[in-house]
Amino acid sequence: MTVDSFAGKLAVVTGGGSGMGRELVRQLAAQGCSVAACDLNADAVAATAASAVAPGVLVTGHACDVSDEAQVVRFRDELLAEHGRDHVDLVFSNAGAGGGESFVTSRREVWERTFAIDWWGVYYCARVFLPLLIASGDGVLVNTSSVNGLWASLGPGMPNHAYSTAKFAVRGFSEALIEDLRSNAPGVRVAVVMPGHVGTDIVANSIRAHGLPPLEELTDAQLEELIPAERRAKLIGAGLLAEGASAQELRQMLVRANADFRDKAPVSAAQAATVILDGVRSGAWRILVGEDAGKIDAAVRAKPEAAYDYAELFSALAP
Ligand SMILES: NC(=O)c1ccc[n+]([C@@H]2O[C@H](COP(=O)([O-])OP(=O)(O)OC[C@H]3O[C@@H](n4cnc5c(N)ncnc54)[C@H](O)[C@@H]3O)[C@@H](O)[C@H]2O)c1
Repeated sequence: MTVDSFAGKLAVVTGGGSGMGRELVRQLAAQGCSVAACDLNADAVAATAASAVAPGVLVTGHACDVSDEAQVVRFRDELLAEHGRDHVDLVFSNAGAGGGESFVTSRREVWERTFAIDWWGVYYCARVFLPLLIASGDGVLVNTSSVNGLWASLGPGMPNHAYSTAKFAVRGFSEALIEDLRSNAPGVRVAVVMPGHVGTDIVANSIRAHGLPPLEELTDAQLEELIPAERRAKLIGAGLLAEGASAQELRQMLVRANADFRDKAPVSAAQAATVILDGVRSGAWRILVGEDAGKIDAAVRAKPEAAYDYAELFSALAP
């Protein structure tokens, strides 16, 4: 099931306030597709909607925490009323956040908040929007997983536990839906997106998704919790932080880390959105974004037992 054109359709995009979600909204609108975008950050998604005006297209921004089913239901009701429709054609379950790196040492609340956004957010959107995709007769559900849905680590000394657990769940859920939809809702298909490193503000936004203020406004106590002593010691050991760094230096380090993640990525958010939309158009069910994602996928599938033997894995990735 390919998509000839997005023109005239209605798409839902979660996490539309930043990064890949914002670019999906803009590119869909530019291709004649109306969009209802939501985000935890109401101001950010309102700005996206305002920036995505195109002739004959309605783009609306909605405040919604996708980890809360009641808010997803309210988002659905709002968008159907504002767009005057009884179905949606595309759902991009894109909202996501990092956190809860360690099952052993991260605070349980932080682990569970990360899992709730990255897994339950995708699940609730599928529950709430599937009937409207079925009503479309030609619906596509696009769930964003990650390379961490293929490989559950960020490398030596860098576990990524809650996020990887959720992203593996998103991938499994989506793959399991392929046959389920074929058998029980043939007018809908599913695609799963697995981006590698894409340049976005996800480092700063993830901290905000955990209820903390922008990086520059973090209090000393919040910094202490975010980067506890053992983590500071590792950063100092890695030469990323000066011995005895002040709270202000820690804030600056986080701002730098966010900017580096965004600006030094091999793929921009706009390029990633184009890859995702091209994949949806072509009928792909598995959309890898970036050469890094392709290499990790190939290496892990070729030699699964070596996935966490970093010397062997990285030598396979090197070329
Ligand atoms: N950037 C990467 O390198 C990368 C790699 C793999 C996967 N991903 C995934 O891609 C998706 C988009 O990430 P991005 O890099 O564009 O990040 P981003 O931070 O730029 O955008 C994500 C948006 O989701 C919003 N959000 C967070 N929690 C939410 C919630 N509970 N309800 C509603 N909105 C919420 C944030 O406010 C933000 O605007 C995420 O699912 C992320 O996990 C990103």
